[in-house]
Amino acid sequence: MLDAERLIETALAGGGRACLTCSFQAEDVAVLHLLRKQRPEIPVLFLETTYHFPEVLEYRDRLTAEWGLNVFNLQAQPPTEYPEHMAACCHQRKVEPLMEGLAGYELWFTGLRRVQSPTRANLQPREQHRFPTGLTLDKVSPLFDWQDNEVFAYLAANDIPLLPLYEQGYTSIGCAPCTAKPQPGEHARSGRWGGNKLECG
Ligand code: ADX
Ligand code: SF4
Repeated sequence: MLDAERLIETALAGGGRACLTCSFQAEDVAVLHLLRKQRPEIPVLFLETTYHFPEVLEYRDRLTAEWGLNVFNLQAQPPTEYPEHMAACCHQRKVEPLMEGLAGYELWFTGLRRVQSPTRANLQPREQHRFPTGLTLDKVSPLFDWQDNEVFAYLAANDIPLLPLYEQGYTSIGCAPCTAKPQPGEHARSGRWGGNKLECG
């Protein structure tokens, strides 16, 4: 945890305009909590895809009120694609609003972790992220090497309530039409996109 705090401190000391993208899953809330110790007003960007579980929106609103968060809800411009066209839907409802939302920042905090997916196995704590549009940010993932149990232990130790969907057996939570509970013994993210896709794109 000290390493995560030090990473945040070093990154913020660089002086670039900073934000966090936050899905309100457990790791994102842990990063948010750590970040707010050093920068309470950090902008929190939430991708409002309009397909979230009501529990996610209620939890977002609860933390926003209790912690006095500076949340920006990023919404896709209509007309919009629908979940049956997964790649297009994610592009229009997540990638495009993300691109627009991040445009004003230089330093981008995330809750990404190596254990989440083979595509994240080489994730660096801090890396230059260049989007296909050319937009380039200093991406910081303070929990890059945290295991699942460390995330939940951090939240418990700090009396931070969990998104209630975890209690129902969800282990990785995105939009409702594309999120299922994993089968017993399967990887935490196996319920995302019916196993057809690993990332939003
Ligand atoms: S995804 O690719 O499967 O959708 P995942 O849920 O693992 O991503 O989250 C990875 C990171 O993407 C999070 O730490 C967060 O920074 C960002 N993220 C994912 N979903 C959202 C969302 N709805 N709003 C804001 N950021 C998000
Ligand atoms: Fe659309 Fe599903 Fe992607 Fe959400 S996760 S943007 S509903 S395809």
